[in-house]
Amino acid sequence: MRVIGLFCAFVGSLPATANSFVPSTSHGSTNLPTNNEGTIKMTSDSNIEPVYAAKTVSAFDKYKKEHAQSIKSPSKYWGKLAREVLDWEVPFDSHRVLQGDLTNGDVRWFSGGKLNVAYNALDRHDPKKLAMIWEGDEPDDVRRITYGEMTNKVSQIANALKAKGVKKGQVVTIYMPMIPELAMTMLACARIGAVHSVVFAGFSSDALGSRIQAANSEVVVTADHGLRGSKRIPLKDIVNAAVEHVKDKDLVKHVLVWERNYEGPESEAPYEMNSNDVRMDILVDDQRPYCPPEPMEAEENLFILYTSGSTGLPKGLVHTTGGYALYAAHTTKTTFDLAPDDIFACVADCGWITGHSYVVYGPLLNGATTFMFESTPVYPDEGRYWDMVQRHKITQFYTAPTAIRLLMRYGEEAVQKYDLSSLKVLGTVGEPINPEAWRWYYEVVGKSKCTIVDTYWQTETGGHIVTNIPGVTPMKPGSCTLPFYGIDAVVLDPADGHVVEPDENGKAEGVMAVRQPWPGMARTCLGDHARYKTVYLKPYPGYYFTGDSVMRDEEGNHFIIGRVDDIINVSGHRIGTAEVESALVAHPAVAQAAVVGRPHDLKGQSIAAFCMLRKGYEESPELLTELKMNVRHEVGAFCSPDLIVVSPTLPMTRSGKIMRRILRKIVCGETDSLGDISTLADPSIVDTLIEKVGKK
Ligand code: WTA
Repeated sequence: MRVIGLFCAFVGSLPATANSFVPSTSHGSTNLPTNNEGTIKMTSDSNIEPVYAAKTVSAFDKYKKEHAQSIKSPSKYWGKLAREVLDWEVPFDSHRVLQGDLTNGDVRWFSGGKLNVAYNALDRHDPKKLAMIWEGDEPDDVRRITYGEMTNKVSQIANALKAKGVKKGQVVTIYMPMIPELAMTMLACARIGAVHSVVFAGFSSDALGSRIQAANSEVVVTADHGLRGSKRIPLKDIVNAAVEHVKDKDLVKHVLVWERNYEGPESEAPYEMNSNDVRMDILVDDQRPYCPPEPMEAEENLFILYTSGSTGLPKGLVHTTGGYALYAAHTTKTTFDLAPDDIFACVADCGWITGHSYVVYGPLLNGATTFMFESTPVYPDEGRYWDMVQRHKITQFYTAPTAIRLLMRYGEEAVQKYDLSSLKVLGTVGEPINPEAWRWYYEVVGKSKCTIVDTYWQTETGGHIVTNIPGVTPMKPGSCTLPFYGIDAVVLDPADGHVVEPDENGKAEGVMAVRQPWPGMARTCLGDHARYKTVYLKPYPGYYFTGDSVMRDEEGNHFIIGRVDDIINVSGHRIGTAEVESALVAHPAVAQAAVVGRPHDLKGQSIAAFCMLRKGYEESPELLTELKMNVRHEVGAFCSPDLIVVSPTLPMTRSGKIMRRILRKIVCGETDSLGDISTLADPSIVDTLIEKVGKK
């Protein structure tokens, strides 16, 4: 079996229908070439929304001063922090804190310095302190792991990887459920200088196979199965199919398999053993519980993470050791106002960047207790998150707007049953949060006492780049507010790349960019630096380009409008149109396909696909099901289109370019603002499509 159920980072299965939470105040018009028609509309009028003040004016003033200084002297700011926050094996030279720039794409932080991230995340903390509280699919399945225990176990895993031939610099692919062994395998790689590539366990075997191939990964670590809402997900079977899918048949040397319910070396393996499979629990138990941490040069690779781009195959973004570790640690501490005894819960999956930075690296580098969660917010019922907050006395809780919108549907009672008084900070990430959801989170969950931090960032940025800071900068519903320290955020005119000056009302609209390097930024795409430069640095020379459009208000607060490229954001998951389109075209019936996002009350966006059939094929309910299955097989169930429209042709220019802009307008019902359609080869297709979508 290759397909698994809808498997979202934060929410698990989403019901198909929902109340509408789209705010009544809309964002207002923009002339930008965005695809923001496909996102939930945001309010941006500061006169409508109350601003929730910072605790003291002086704290806010201090932020302004420190932020300005961090921009003016980045080497001074980050150099001092790097020495305070991290333990270095070999200190970096103060003259080499930052080298290179965004124009050349040769950024280096702390080069010459050496450190080990696993050592920093584990060994140096109090061995008796809890490093992790893990809660499995069933609420009574709880594990508590101290720093001492985790240090030893990570060492054993590191020795096991070495025993199977893993060397410094090699890529280890990890395809695992959200169990502690996932975090520990990541840290074990970091300990020996191997580069982990975690592939979200909702991706199909085909998608996993192409990522194994692209990263040239000889070792794959998985588990026999995972559990989500009592559903068993046969991960090992998916890995078997993936290994078959890898083009280079000799590439994968070993598949190392954790058992979700390991019962000791005498037990029988709960899966079929292939010749290159190794039972990880048995191998690990045999290892010495100490593995010397490999000193890594600050710019050596820590991990890669595949993420969707506008075109082509997903990119393997490369994060390096020193800069990423510092940025993950510093943002966790600052944005979440982290104190030493906090129980920090980020309920994202480690298959995405949020899980990397805020389940594993950020909290552990700070010596806090991280909470890891395997299940969904609605299993066994919709009170699950709040029940966990009460039982574990969680102090920070970090989730996505899609989960908040889902839980809002169940009403306040499901929250009010629980004692949430331990909570201090509530975080949101992944997509713009509509003010209604923001207010519900603030009032119903936070009892108007917690700070909501709306954290804007990306796989590429390593950590938060725009966010409010508890007690320091004001919050504003629907806005991620102000840039983080060291982030020189600018709004650029997409037409000419100039910095947009505030208009007569103090507002600026354009695309979001950063003018200066920061330590957490991804340095390259694995094996393809040209692509990295083309996507992020060349569109606006001298700037890092985020791909998002933004409105900045008169107080400097940022409102993210949406992607300006062909990336769709479904339940906070980045999905590239190209991946879904190629999965549709892989079906023999489909000649051409175009995929766009359309607003969805819960998921933010859902996928609408337009397919042109080959001669001899006709539309039928069976065909539509097969097409959806193709997307599930080739990419993953979470990318399955909600709407498929079979069309005699697609809206193309005379030169054959598909005009997705028109398709987006049609699926959003904005047919009175289609713009110029005279450049289409066949303008009459527009009416046909409007009629077809209307009938769906
Ligand atoms: C979107 C997730 C508005 C944005 C950490 C970005 C957001 C993309 C926010 C990156 C936010 C993330 N407000 N939009 N607070 N956070 N986004 O790489 O479009 O999975 O470019 O990283 O999510 O998604 P990624």
